[in-house]
Amino acid sequence: MSNKHEVRVLYSEAEIAQRVEAMAEALSKAEFRNLLVVAVLKGSFMFAADLLRAMHRRGMKPQVEFVHLSSYLEGTVSQGHVTILKDIESDVADRDVLLVDDILESGRTLAFAKDLLSARGARKVLLGVMLEKPHKRVVQIEADYVGFKCPDEFVVGYGMDVAHNYRELPFIGVVS
Ligand code: IMP
Ligand code: MG
Repeated sequence: MSNKHEVRVLYSEAEIAQRVEAMAEALSKAEFRNLLVVAVLKGSFMFAADLLRAMHRRGMKPQVEFVHLSSYLEGTVSQGHVTILKDIESDVADRDVLLVDDILESGRTLAFAKDLLSARGARKVLLGVMLEKPHKRVVQIEADYVGFKCPDEFVVGYGMDVAHNYRELPFIGVVS
């Protein structure tokens, strides 16, 4: 799909900014021990950058790491399989971790990441996602901080792509 297609705005820059500030506000009210924010590449890069700056404005001082995960679907009745393309470098033992991702859909990606960090001894692993698609969960997992519950449509922009396109859009939209 080329970048020539029209993208219908679902959440504008201003609406996103408002939700990001509200999430940072909620995070600033929580008690964290030695907080590490782990952004899940690639889709979360824009959200993570905005959320971290909003957290900073509220006096928070988290460390930041990145993990790059890839899900492969084996067959049509999705037996999702997640692999680590790039791991974090920090020790998470006894630390609180906030996993940040663009969208929670089947939940496989974040369930994998959460289990991995818990197994490494993280004290608490919380999930912050910009979007959550209801009714799509395949594994039992809930996000602790959610930007928007979005309609069941394929969305792009604000870091999210279709075939590597549209990640640069400052808003979230639907390709028409
Ligand atoms: P899941 O929760 O493991 O199914 O996977 C969520 C991941 O799939 C997200 O981090 C996105 O990278 C990708 N994804 C799911 N739905 C969409 C969408 O509507 N647009 C773009 N990427 C999506
Ligand atoms: Mg992703």
